[in-house]
This record gives sequence, C-alpha cells and structure tokens, in this order.
Amino acid sequence: MQVLHQLPYTKDKDLLVGIETADDAGVYKLSDEMAVVSTLDFFPPIVDDPFLFGQIAAANSLSDIYAMGATPRLAMNIVCFPKELGLEVLGEIMRGSLDKLNEASALLIGGHSVEDTEVKYGLSVTGFVHPDKVITNRGARPGDVLVLTKPVGVGVITSALKAGRIDINDAEEAFESMRTLNKAASEVMVEVGVNACTDVTGYGVLGHAMEMAKGSEANLVIDTKDIKIFPQALGLINKKSNRPRTLMDNRDYVMKDVMKAVQIDEALELMLFDPQTSGGLLISVPEQRSEALLSGLRKRFVNPSIIGRVVEKEGEWRIRLE
Ligand code: CO
Ligand code: CO
Ligand code: CO
Repeated sequence: MQVLHQLPYTKDKDLLVGIETADDAGVYKLSDEMAVVSTLDFFPPIVDDPFLFGQIAAANSLSDIYAMGATPRLAMNIVCFPKELGLEVLGEIMRGSLDKLNEASALLIGGHSVEDTEVKYGLSVTGFVHPDKVITNRGARPGDVLVLTKPVGVGVITSALKAGRIDINDAEEAFESMRTLNKAASEVMVEVGVNACTDVTGYGVLGHAMEMAKGSEANLVIDTKDIKIFPQALGLINKKSNRPRTLMDNRDYVMKDVMKAVQIDEALELMLFDPQTSGGLLISVPEQRSEALLSGLRKRFVNPSIIGRVVEKEGEWRIRLE
C-alpha cells in the first residue's frame, strides 16, 4: 500500500528487517548471536469447523517466522468474537491453534480479545534466529533455482466451499495442506543454505514472487506448467463466482510487470494470483544446492517442485512466464 510507504518510520542500526521491504516478519538484532523475529496475522474463518480454523490460523501465523529461517517460540492470541456464538466455539478454535503451536514447540503466553460482529482469529508470533542466518525475500541471485513447497489453489477451493458449490470431502487435500506447518521445509532450507525465501499467502504465487524479484533486484522466469495445483481448483477458477475477492486485484497489480513468453491457459494464469492461506515456501536456492534442498525436503515429507529460475535484471519486465 503506497500510503504506508511514506510514513516517518524510525530507523535503527539493529533493525535488520523493517517494514519497508514487505518481508514476512520484522527482525531485530539483540546481540551478535541472537535476533528476534516478530509477525502478526489474523483473519475471518475460511472453514466452518472451528478446530480446523484454529489449526490453519496458527499454521499461517507461524509460517512468517519459518519463512525467515527462524524458530518460533512465543505466541499471543488476537481474537474478535461475537458473544452469541458461545464460548465453546472459541474454545475449539483455541484447541486447534494450540495443537499447531505445540507441534511448533511455541508457547502461548497471552493475547487480547474484543467483541465483534464477526469472528476473526490469529496470532502474533515471536521467533529467534542467528543474525547472520536471517533469510529475507531480497537475496535471490541470478543462477538460483526457485522451489515451491506446497500446491496452490486453496483460495478458490475454500471460496467454492463457502458458497456450497463443492462437497467438504473435495476440500480435504486443501485442508491438509493449510494445516501443515512450514516447519520441516524451513529447517531443511536453513540446513542446506538458501539465498531468499518468502511464504505464499494473500498475493498469490506471482504476487509474492514479484516482491522477491523487486527486493532482490533480479528478474524471475516462472515455468507455469511446473506449478503444482490442486486438481479441482483449475476447474473451479473458470467460474467467476468461485474466485476469491482479491484474486483480480492481485492480477491487476502484478501483471503490469509480467511478460508472457508463451500462450498461457487462462485458468492457469488466474491460478498464479489465487490468494493462499498458509501456503508453501517460495525458496531461491543456488543451483548447485538445489538437489540437496529437494532431496532434504522429500525426506521430511514435503513435496517440492522447481517452478523457475532467477536471471539478471533486464528489460521492462520483472517476471517472465514460460
Ligand atoms: Co508471509
Ligand atoms: Co503475514
Ligand atoms: Co489486553
């Protein structure tokens, strides 16, 4: 958002990652050995089951810490809740959230709730990382390979489900993906050593790839056919009413800096802008380490795919679609 870029932010020599670079989390150096990583995310339910919603919201909030190559430790609730709904529902959301916080070995230490007309839930998460080991969205280098760790399409699937156009059983794969932590993916990338990372969330694959391209002052080439998509999502996206509200905004915002080298199927192109919740990590890794990254991820039951590469900055475009 343009207006947010012009505010008088205070600079500090120990602020390693601030608000300016649209990264996943802020990073502040405490000592030569330790930096603190801080993030916040909350949103209205995208599924009816409160336990599942809690799991997804927690996995999504933790993801920004994992995307920085950091370890989450502390978490605080952000709750908006209508009294009429009954506290059992909030209890289930919290139980789902704690299930994922426990899996992440992160502690819930507090939070805040307000009464509201609509449920919203999320977490502020604090993590830690060695100051030299921070992985930002600005480090992609020409020659790098781009790896994505989850399929895309959860936006269109959850929006079709909300409208009653698909059966809940057809969304199970998407649910499983959203409640899966990016913990293993993050640990493997830290171990292998990568140049840049961000998690794919509201701006879709191409929106987050664009932030990486601009932040890294490099261009990206995306092999659109190599992006894994949930099978039913491609069919659903053809129908306008299934498209999440922000999908076309994402496309309008990003496409002006995109060059299409080949004809791309319309459904596939739209899929690149599908807003994700608790999406995968988009990782830029030096080519000689890409095999180690892929095999390390597979060993931890992550199903990665190479979706493109980083090239020198040239021309009017920032991302070329192939
Ligand atoms: Co993020
Ligand atoms: Co976020
Ligand atoms: Co309070």
